Amino acid sequence: MANNWIDAAAEADVPDDDVTSVAAGGVELALYGVAGEVFATANLCTHGNARLCDGFLEGHEIECPLHQGKFDIRSGRASCEPATEAVRTYPVKIENGRVYVDLG
Ligand code: FES
Repeated sequence: MANNWIDAAAEADVPDDDVTSVAAGGVELALYGVAGEVFATANLCTHGNARLCDGFLEGHEIECPLHQGKFDIRSGRASCEPATEAVRTYPVKIENGRVYVDLG
């Protein structure tokens, strides 16, 4: 699959140890700041109609606000039920203070 790097946000707009959402390239993304690194996943929970940006981030794990399913934001793996299906993750790179996400 070809790379499709999209300028998604300013690095300064991604909160540390928290999550925010952006729309980039027609995709709604959740962006997470963890210890100076930025991670990106789809914003919609795979279990239902909830946005992960409204959830609670602890370490590398995001807890869905609706039923408290959890996902590892590095791999997308569902780590706590009722979430069982992985959430899509996207590669991230930082250049000149901008966050680029590879939408693939
Ligand atoms: Fe996210 Fe149910 S909608 S765990």
